[in-house]
Amino acid sequence: MSITKESELFGMQKASEAVAYTLKEMINYAQPGMSTKELDEFGAGILSGFGAKSAPYLTYGFPGWTCISVGDEFCHGIPRDNRLLKEGDLINIDVSAELAGFWADNGGSFVLGEDVNQHQKLVDTSKNILRNAISNIKGGVKIADIGHLMETEAKKHGYKVIKNLGGHGIGRGLHEDPAELLNYKNRFDQRRFKKNSVVAIETFISTSSTYAVELKDGWTMVGNKGGYMAQHEHTIVVTNGKPIILTEMNGIFN
Ligand code: CO
Ligand code: CO
Repeated sequence: MSITKESELFGMQKASEAVAYTLKEMINYAQPGMSTKELDEFGAGILSGFGAKSAPYLTYGFPGWTCISVGDEFCHGIPRDNRLLKEGDLINIDVSAELAGFWADNGGSFVLGEDVNQHQKLVDTSKNILRNAISNIKGGVKIADIGHLMETEAKKHGYKVIKNLGGHGIGRGLHEDPAELLNYKNRFDQRRFKKNSVVAIETFISTSSTYAVELKDGWTMVGNKGGYMAQHEHTIVVTNGKPIILTEMNGIFN
């Protein structure tokens, strides 16, 4: 969506606060031995306290309230009773929701407890790429140039980017135009970021795979060549200067 009046900015701020606070609390609440289902139920309680409704559930009938992906799962992991978190797991939580007609999206990967499997470098690289990408976005900047920046940074640290996942416009629905804000340079993409538009910018940084493929459960995505992936995502408003990061309070940059 494009912000045209104060009430729309306010609506987006409220929806973004709900998903950002939920994500932050879920990351804090996660601990070894907990099932992803229990973590999801905890997040669902926070969302409903805001009066917010799960976006993947509303939009796609996702079998959970938030997406929780663990280990070699890249994204869209289904919360389960029998999926127990372990020390050192690479975990991704993605929380998106609708509140009073406005939609916001955010996500983050983190290492649970001690980094016994050495995932922290991947996580930090993904965070830094998101920070760098966002700080370079303003009205008139080419979408493909931000993709180029993301891929260049990933390669510099020995990582790859996932080619078939991307950020997206958001606001009056979960996925709006501009679609496919990719993590690499698509030289045929002439589109530019527009001032006042609301977009969800997300990284998909991986150790070995370049495509995400769906498992037989119809939701969970893993890598075409295995390995691990980290994702970090903020919902932002594009301006003529630094973007307004609507989901800043999720704390993923801290
Ligand atoms: Co998103
Ligand atoms: Co998301």
